[in-house]
Amino acid sequence: MNKLGAVWTVLLGSAFLLCACGEEQPDVPDKSYIGVAYYNQSDTFLNELLDSFKEQLKEMQNEDMDTVVMVRDAAGVQRTQDDQVKELINAGCDVLCVNLVDRADPSEIIDMAREHEVPIIFFNREPVAEDLMQWDQIYYVGADAEESGVMQGELAADMIKNNSQTDRNRDGKIQYVVLEGEPGHQDAIIRTETAVKTLTDSGIELEKLSYQIANWNRAQAENRMEQLIGQYPNQIELVLSNNDDMALGAMDAYKKLNYTETALPVFFGIDGTDAGLEAVMDSELAGTVYNDKEGQAKAMAELCWALITGDGMEELEFQKERCIYLPYAKVTEENADEFIARSNTP
Ligand code: BGC
Ligand code: CA
Repeated sequence: MNKLGAVWTVLLGSAFLLCACGEEQPDVPDKSYIGVAYYNQSDTFLNELLDSFKEQLKEMQNEDMDTVVMVRDAAGVQRTQDDQVKELINAGCDVLCVNLVDRADPSEIIDMAREHEVPIIFFNREPVAEDLMQWDQIYYVGADAEESGVMQGELAADMIKNNSQTDRNRDGKIQYVVLEGEPGHQDAIIRTETAVKTLTDSGIELEKLSYQIANWNRAQAENRMEQLIGQYPNQIELVLSNNDDMALGAMDAYKKLNYTETALPVFFGIDGTDAGLEAVMDSELAGTVYNDKEGQAKAMAELCWALITGDGMEELEFQKERCIYLPYAKVTEENADEFIARSNTP
């Protein structure tokens, strides 16, 4: 056989092999990689949201499609998160789900993702509108902070109107303190402002004693609450907390100081985490506002699926072009069991 003949044999042979591989493909499950980067693994709400996300993706899988989720924790450092996103992109992720450390600083992540054409779903920590507009493959899944503040205010107003003993010193005013989440987070300031405004608008006279920042964290809230109790012994009648973990931390502080039940203020949280809902059931928290983690996780999973397969995008309901906001709901002792059931089924 001459040289040319040998080349043809090799080429035909490879072409045959390629065809054979092509025919095999339908039997091999397609693997898709979803990269998840979140700001801090100590966050209760986000851990519960991500558990639900993984469960729901698993349920959506079929024999043609298998998803692998890779999760990275930035431990509160934006630079670390930028590096993690780079690593996720290099590892071949098809979609990125990003819970920013600093919601005002997504540019590096957006640039990297755009360069490699990997769509990004930001969640829970909302970038500003300008940043969301930087590229048409950027999405956001979350909830409307104002709605949660209004609901917390309404829950507290109902409680105060129906229980005259809430005003323990009977001066016609409710002495309150606020426990706030991270400064700069869209949910922190707005929840506080709207909860207080809703209470005042409903005719309740309030007296603000103080506020403390506890960064969404139960242990920090316990510590800050101890300081507040020291500063205002027996004066606090209402604790408004930007989330359940901090409301529970405030309760921990009172328990540690051996306060009797009748001397306790009323506590309100937001989230309906597992521990938060339990505390509402046990009447330790007077109420909370359900931050629909299952709904948010489902929207993220459906969006990932649609971005990977190209199917189902039309069924998703977007606001502001590429954002999905799930509604909040009020939770009291009467309906807490419904939410416990909801959070037990992914
Ligand atoms: C939740 C908090 C959580 C925070 C994290 C908020 O929406 O209510 O519990 O710590 O998001 O970004
Ligand atoms: Ca009072």
